[in-house]
Amino acid sequence: MSSMSPENISPVQVIQQKFSLDFQYPVLFTQNCFDLQDTTIVNLIDNLSESPKLLAILDEGVDQMNPDLAVRIEQYCEHHNIESLPSMIVPAGEDCKNDESVIDDIYHAVEQFEIDRHSYILVVGGGAVVDAVGFAAATAHRGIRLIRMPSTVLGQNDAGVGVKNAVNYHKRKNFVGTFAPPFAVVNDYNLLDTLGERDKRAGIAEAIKVALIKDSQFFDVLYNTRLALAKFEEQASRHMIVRCAQLHLDHIATSGDPFELGSARPLDFGHWSAHKLEELSANELRHGEAVAIGIALDTIYSNLKGHLSDDKKQQVVTLLLDLGFELNHQVLNKLDIAKALGEFKEHLGGNLCITLLRDIGSGFEVNEIDEGLMTQALQLLMNVGR
Ligand SMILES: NC(=O)c1ccc[n+]([C@@H]2O[C@H](COP(=O)([O-])OP(=O)(O)OC[C@H]3O[C@@H](n4cnc5c(N)ncnc54)[C@H](O)[C@@H]3O)[C@@H](O)[C@H]2O)c1
Ligand SMILES: [Zn+2]
Repeated sequence: MSSMSPENISPVQVIQQKFSLDFQYPVLFTQNCFDLQDTTIVNLIDNLSESPKLLAILDEGVDQMNPDLAVRIEQYCEHHNIESLPSMIVPAGEDCKNDESVIDDIYHAVEQFEIDRHSYILVVGGGAVVDAVGFAAATAHRGIRLIRMPSTVLGQNDAGVGVKNAVNYHKRKNFVGTFAPPFAVVNDYNLLDTLGERDKRAGIAEAIKVALIKDSQFFDVLYNTRLALAKFEEQASRHMIVRCAQLHLDHIATSGDPFELGSARPLDFGHWSAHKLEELSANELRHGEAVAIGIALDTIYSNLKGHLSDDKKQQVVTLLLDLGFELNHQVLNKLDIAKALGEFKEHLGGNLCITLLRDIGSGFEVNEIDEGLMTQALQLLMNVGR
């Protein structure tokens, strides 16, 4: 009894642990970086004297369209005193994120070739392959240096430049993943040459998204160059990619929440419905195509709610249509607004937080959506372009 008396219970001892880390990585925009004389990649490598190992992992789709790429990477490494390991080819698109054996194969290669924390994994591929390889690289040995070379527009201007990676689990999108800044990102424009028209266009949706919430001048540039962008002309497209990547990077660096501990996700403008539409279309819709529809829906809703003028709403819709996006896609018939909002709320961690527009270049957060008005926005969207 005496040992349990209150005066004998020791007080809680607290050691408050605190430290911060400074993350830095370069994001380069270049071309022909596997030409033997090109120094972009070799200049990134800071332990050349030790002849570091490099494992190249290629997206199957990229490999098929560029059958000499793996050999060129090997030759480049040889030329620059980097020990190149036999390259791996992984399945393209969501298959790569759905198939657990891909991660296992990468772990196996890391073990077999004794790839350590001072070695490099270089991934060339679309956002999905970059996500899956990024997850394997971040978790093997608690983190191997990762050089990302995104090969889609969406990869170069958004998915490949940030700090997240993920794979799917039991078909649940991005269920398993980490926050892990890369060692470097190399956006080589030549990689985009073999990309299909739909994937070229899809990535532009993310640029429109970030312009709408953060940068009206960038929106004006996109609007004024929309016919050149629709044809993916070089100058307009490259400007679109660089500025979009920069706005994403600035957000990560300055928003105060790079690892998304809070509920607000301004960069997810238009995404609550987009995620659902991708799923409802059984991934027939590209992520960027679904985002274009999601942007249009939340723009129309912002207008119905009285935040955004008719003219500005029309400008957004015109830009999306002129780029060739199909905004009244039939999958909209299947969208259950309440359900999609509920799932997005769960994805955010419990508090609904949706970005709307009060102007072009100015997003703001709301915690409630008027479902009746959103239904009206959806009906208006289904008649756009008809
Ligand atoms: N980690 C993040 O922060 C983040 C952000 C946004 C999106 N993502 C993820 O990105 C993925 C979407 O990425 P995506 O839009 O790049 O599509 P994707 O990776 O699914 O690629 C689309 C198709 O293009 C092919 N491809 C890629 N590059 C090619 C090239 N140069 N030439 C010919 N074909 C090529 C691929 O093989 C694939 O078949 C999703 O899984 C999404 O969840 C991640
Ligand atoms: Zn997106």
